[in-house]
Amino acid sequence: MDPQNLAYALVQLAHNFGAVAVTGGAVAGWVTQRRAPGQATGLVWLVLAGWALQAASGAGFGLISLAWYGQFPDLHGVAVAALVIKVSCATAGLLLAMLLLKFSGAWSATRRRHVWSGLVGLAASALSAAAFLRWFA
Ligand code: HEM
Repeated sequence: MDPQNLAYALVQLAHNFGAVAVTGGAVAGWVTQRRAPGQATGLVWLVLAGWALQAASGAGFGLISLAWYGQFPDLHGVAVAALVIKVSCATAGLLLAMLLLKFSGAWSATRRRHVWSGLVGLAASALSAAAFLRWFA
């Protein structure tokens, strides 16, 4: 078995489940918030862990390239823009999830709903950027 393919597959495995966690967790949190306004703490942790996993596994793709070829992938144009969008979404997603964990008890139901909407939007943007990174890289 080619070790480079194995490394890429394992990182992709983590990255795929991270994508499910940030997207599914945010949609579930948004729905829960609408039906029964509360703290949904378990879902916030899921989303937070998902964003952290995405950032780490996303960096893992670059590190594998560095380990095997001595350089990061040579990206241009649309691919660079897509990567910048993903990194920005991951940063904002981590930040929003941490704020939600720390302050949701003190926030109004409306503000919590807006934050969950923001998390859904960030996940959708990152997923959309993934399609462009995949085919323009
Ligand atoms: C710091 C953040 C991130 C970085 C650095 C990153 C980086 C990458 C890289 C390098 C790839 C491989 C691209 C290729 O196939 O050529 C990839 C694939 C992918 N990423 Fe990310 N990513 C990040 C965040 C995210 C997020 C937040 C999501 C989803 C919500 C996501 C979803 C995906 C998906 C679905 C693929 C597979 C695309 C495909 O092969 O069709 N990524 N990512």
